[in-house]
Amino acid sequence: MMSAIKRNALLIINTLLLLGVMSLIFVANNLQSSTDIEAQQSNAVFGPGDNKQGYDSVDYKTNSMDLQKRKSKGKEADLLEFAVTPPLGLPAVLVPKDNPITVEKVLLGRRLFFDRRLSINGTFSCAICHIPEQGFTNNEIQTAVGVEGRTGKRNAPSIYNSAYLGKIFHDGRETTLERQVWSPFLARSEMANPSIGYVINKIIAINEYDELFEAAFNGRGPTMETVGMALASYERTLNVANSPFDRWKFGQQEDAVTEQVKRGFNVFTGVGACSACHLIEEEYALFSDDKLHNTGLGYQVSMGIEPKTTRVQLAPGVFADLDTSVIRAVSRPKINDLGLYEITENPNDRWKFRTPSLRNVALTAPYMHDGSMQNLREVVEFYNQGGVPNELLSPLIKPLALSDAEIDDVVAFLESLTGGNVAVLVADAFAAPIGDISTDDPN
Ligand code: HEC
Ligand code: HEC
Repeated sequence: MMSAIKRNALLIINTLLLLGVMSLIFVANNLQSSTDIEAQQSNAVFGPGDNKQGYDSVDYKTNSMDLQKRKSKGKEADLLEFAVTPPLGLPAVLVPKDNPITVEKVLLGRRLFFDRRLSINGTFSCAICHIPEQGFTNNEIQTAVGVEGRTGKRNAPSIYNSAYLGKIFHDGRETTLERQVWSPFLARSEMANPSIGYVINKIIAINEYDELFEAAFNGRGPTMETVGMALASYERTLNVANSPFDRWKFGQQEDAVTEQVKRGFNVFTGVGACSACHLIEEEYALFSDDKLHNTGLGYQVSMGIEPKTTRVQLAPGVFADLDTSVIRAVSRPKINDLGLYEITENPNDRWKFRTPSLRNVALTAPYMHDGSMQNLREVVEFYNQGGVPNELLSPLIKPLALSDAEIDDVVAFLESLTGGNVAVLVADAFAAPIGDISTDDPN
């Protein structure tokens, strides 16, 4: 017999499937630890707007925040301090010689980051995809959706700790934050501006920027360079660490983490060999080797290898195992992604993606370059089975034979990497002015 809730669930899923919006299907709630949920419900400033918990309760109240509510939770932070003295567990920030960081540049960069007018139709700022209260990524969709609903093939990474990136983007195709910004400004599936000049002219036409550029660049107005320098300066302040793990490992505070986290750390650095790529140094940890590897995930998609059924979450606690071919028949086909090969055209580079940092990973679901994994357990299980074998699989990925309990331990370890200053940076973002055509149209 089919319960009403299940019937409703099936109805909902039919509708969703018919819409063919696979990348929009609910991402399972990643904030599983009860402390995270409590933190959210006690009105904390971060977490998905709607945490998809408690739909079944008559007292259900959404956590979604309108702009006014966000603003009321805003509180400016001393951003520069996070770049000058990064929180425990991070090394010094390497600021390029030709772009010294100053308060004026950071404030200008922050203004640009939240300015929706800087897209072709005035709707998209950087923050629409890198949402402050969602780990500066987007917890609700697998692959980013840009102007006019155009979607790309990749998941938006968090920009926390992007100051430390050597290789930028999932395929490592950029190397400086200053230059990186022009990709989203111009990408058709992101902010879709037709040209660099188009963006610069928009900024010139917005009077409020005159003084900000004057103060930050001493008379140099908006140019391809100064815009990149300002945004990079803001990003270099978004450094998040001093997590329970950092306080234990680098702060010698024995009780900062649970025994389970310590066991998870032992698996991570021991039999799991995770730290062969997600590096932990003596004095700090970036959790990345800044290299690209083939874990088999990209291969799996390219070859159309898929499980017989796919589990979809419809609402809290309500799952349906659907035949994958049914989902496939009504959804947009997955876009092939060859990773590093697309940059080098070297066949040996097929399906290589950059090792992401794991800091704050509990806040940044869904996971992997295509956002195909909904929670951390799924990721650890993927490694446990040895990724997806293919002739180019990294020799560092092999079946691990971890027990269920060990998998839980690794997940607990990953959850201990959420930094202590997240709330401060989110509150600062809420205090940032938002550029909106309804208040000041540059055209
Ligand atoms: C439409 C959604 C969208 C918008 C708008 C957007 N981004 Fe992104 N961002 C992404 C996606 C997707 C990626 C990964 C792309 C890839 O790897 O090819 C990304 C990657 C990045 C990265 C690299 C992170 C890493 O780990 O390599 C940075 C930094 C970044 N974006 C900053 C910005 C800035 C600054 C803006 C505004 C000028 C912006 N983004 C606008 C979706 C977006
Ligand atoms: C061969 C190097 C390598 C090893 C070993 C490795 N990883 Fe990864 N890890 C990667 C790469 C590369 C990615 C990105 C893959 C992608 O985007 O498709 C990644 C992604 C992840 C992610 C998703 C992060 C995100 O933001 O999307 C998690 C979590 C993770 N790894 C945890 C682990 C754990 C736990 C282990 C050990 C069981 C491990 N990794 C072992 C290279 C490695």
